[in-house]
Amino acid sequence: MPSQETRSPEFHAFVCDLARRAGELQMSRYEQPGEVREKNPKDVVTEVDLLCEELIVGAIEDRYPQDAILSEERGGSIASSGRSWLIDPIDGTANFAKANPLFCACVSVMEDGVVTNVAVSAPRIGDLYHARLGEGAFRETRGETLPLSVGPTESLEYAFVGADMALTKSKRNLRYRRAIDEILAGCWQFRSLGSAGIRGAWLAGGYLDVSVGTHNTPWDYAPTVLLVSEAGGKTTDLTGEPWSPDSAGLLATNGSLHAEVLDIIERGTDPQ
Ligand code: IPD
Ligand code: CA
Ligand code: CA
Ligand code: CA
Repeated sequence: MPSQETRSPEFHAFVCDLARRAGELQMSRYEQPGEVREKNPKDVVTEVDLLCEELIVGAIEDRYPQDAILSEERGGSIASSGRSWLIDPIDGTANFAKANPLFCACVSVMEDGVVTNVAVSAPRIGDLYHARLGEGAFRETRGETLPLSVGPTESLEYAFVGADMALTKSKRNLRYRRAIDEILAGCWQFRSLGSAGIRGAWLAGGYLDVSVGTHNTPWDYAPTVLLVSEAGGKTTDLTGEPWSPDSAGLLATNGSLHAEVLDIIERGTDPQ
């Protein structure tokens, strides 16, 4: 059970404000990402990632010095009990570096292992998606606050599917390639956005019906877990167990499609 502080509207407003401020910083440097450094052949970090991280992490440390923080670029950890923050200062860095509009800042809070508050600010498309445990999921756009609700699609053949594509031949990517191929062959439309945070929010809003992520980066998936459950959908790891920060991947659906897609993943996953 989250503490009263974590459940309060004031705390949630702080979470949203962090994402919003990072989004504003991203827009102030849109098309001027500064130095772009290669972390590995498929991942880059820009000066702006580091500035956003400094802004978000600095504000959390000032206000909640006891809390644990895990943030993509500087690391850290999640506490097994008490409150932890999971930060993705820019999700979709490759998009940001190329001035593609699909990037965001993701701020998530977990308490005692449960995701309690999330905010995803996608400033170039003008959206802030956020959710608080038990209070629903919302999209703020152009001064309006609209509830998010998953779509009604009941069969994979009519579904919009979003997925992380296997860009390298790493063991983990190859493990899920056959399953993802089968899901893509069986669905109606496929979208690869380059931002796990926006993909999760778009599922929560009904603009996608299925989202498959095969990574093990908890700052990418925590926002989806809460946005989608508060919007009426379902999330599990890729074996059907509850998602945790240690999970190797996340399946999020509108609920109706979960069993069908999980079945394909179970049948198509190659043993490690
Ligand atoms: C990336 C995005 C992308 C996914 C990559 C992630 P980043 O996050 O979420 O959708 O395919 O694997 O690394 O690195 O831009 O924060
Ligand atoms: Ca990255
Ligand atoms: Ca990310
Ligand atoms: Ca990132």
